[in-house]
Amino acid sequence: MRVCVIGTGYVGLVTGACLAHTGHEVICVDNNEEKVKTMKAGRSPIYEPGLSEIMTGAIQNGKIEFTTDLEAGVSHGDVLFIAVGTPPLPTGESDTRYVEAVARGIGAHLKQGYKVIVNKSTVPIGSGDWVRSIVLDGIAEREKSLVGAGKTGEDLVEHIEVEFDVVSNPEFLREGSAVYDTFNPDRIVLGSNSDRALTMMQELYAPIVNREVAENKELPPVPVVMTDLCSAEMIKYAANSFLATKISFINEVANICDRVGADVTQVAKGIGLDSRIGNKFLNAGIGWGGSCFPKDVSALVHTADDYGYDAQLLKSAVEVNQRQRLMALEKLQQELKILKGKTIGLLGLTFKPDTDDMRDAPSLVLIENLNRLGAKVKAYDPIVSQTGLRSGLSGVYVETDPERLADSCDALVLVTDWQQFADLDYAKMAKLMNSPIMVDGRNFLDRTALEAIGFRYVGIGH
Ligand code: UDX
Repeated sequence: MRVCVIGTGYVGLVTGACLAHTGHEVICVDNNEEKVKTMKAGRSPIYEPGLSEIMTGAIQNGKIEFTTDLEAGVSHGDVLFIAVGTPPLPTGESDTRYVEAVARGIGAHLKQGYKVIVNKSTVPIGSGDWVRSIVLDGIAEREKSLVGAGKTGEDLVEHIEVEFDVVSNPEFLREGSAVYDTFNPDRIVLGSNSDRALTMMQELYAPIVNREVAENKELPPVPVVMTDLCSAEMIKYAANSFLATKISFINEVANICDRVGADVTQVAKGIGLDSRIGNKFLNAGIGWGGSCFPKDVSALVHTADDYGYDAQLLKSAVEVNQRQRLMALEKLQQELKILKGKTIGLLGLTFKPDTDDMRDAPSLVLIENLNRLGAKVKAYDPIVSQTGLRSGLSGVYVETDPERLADSCDALVLVTDWQQFADLDYAKMAKLMNSPIMVDGRNFLDRTALEAIGFRYVGIGH
């Protein structure tokens, strides 16, 4: 099928590249010329394992193209994905102006024939109908300008006789395993009030549904959940809010464990074996961050507020998370008492491993508060230390390797559970420190091994 993906952020680029890999003819549109140049050369502008390989393969097979030309993209695609950003506003609502501009642009460039317009961006509930109305506005504006320019006949008819439907198709991919998640999804959600559109979407996803590109091809087909537009939009918010709440729940249990002397990792194992609870997303730590959880939970709280409903559980999940980010600070104060003049080393800066994403990273809150209390902050992160990302950070000196980080530190805090942090030379690092204290913000390190080499080990609920 012919596909156009508008917006090449995490979601758009991964969707475009993966659909091209399954054999569709894809054009990705982005208004950033530099980015388009980079992608044309087969390079991914984001750090995402496996993505550059998929892009290069698709370019070589002639399955994917990159352009800044929206009109060319719209005329190419039978299915048009809107995958632009919806960043959070200070109020907690999503900023939908980019979605609006794209929907209007699609309307302006639609020509004769049938198109399916897919909302891949995480838009507020109810946006499906709104997108439809904006596309119609775009069509009307274009019509007016054509008539104003004296166009008649074919030009006009071609523009007026357009047919389209809107589909909500939320994504559930995790940064760092976005390509894997796209090819091995737990489910695909398609929301629309049009059977014709849903049939086309099923055809589009058939290679993924039938496990043609899955790691395990023997698995039964991927379940496809078909709903109305609004329910599909709600599924995205409910899923992310549930997962965020689950983490806040285990973090709250961890804080109680700390007080009574229980071990949250054993508690998580004990409750996670109950199949009704499940063992995933029960790792206690210094809280959730990233581009999705904070934004989506706040947006759902906001939507509930708009309808006069006080979403107390979700508000609490957010509060627990805010408090949790300061838990490492509290533990440093318990160990070192006065933080003024002390040097603290952070292991990890990104909001989670295998990504270069710093959005809403717990490290940022920690840096800000350590600075406020007069501590000097250094950090080492496998990605941030090696890229230009460090220049955007303030209040922290980014070191180039873990040993330089440890040098003269009064304590280390493990902020991100990068796999390589499991095997650092901690014995050597301990010798370089003023006092070998390790606050393990992810309960990730081997406590016994660290204690054996002289570290004072402090976990979360551990
Ligand atoms: C998430 C959802 O998982 C994905 O389905 C959605 O589409 C986008 O949001 P992502 O933000 O990439 O994906 O990260 P995820 O792996 O879910 O982790 C989110 C945050 O929760 C991270 O800060 C992580 O460190 C934290 N986390 C996760 C925990 O603190 N404990 C856990 O047990 C799991």
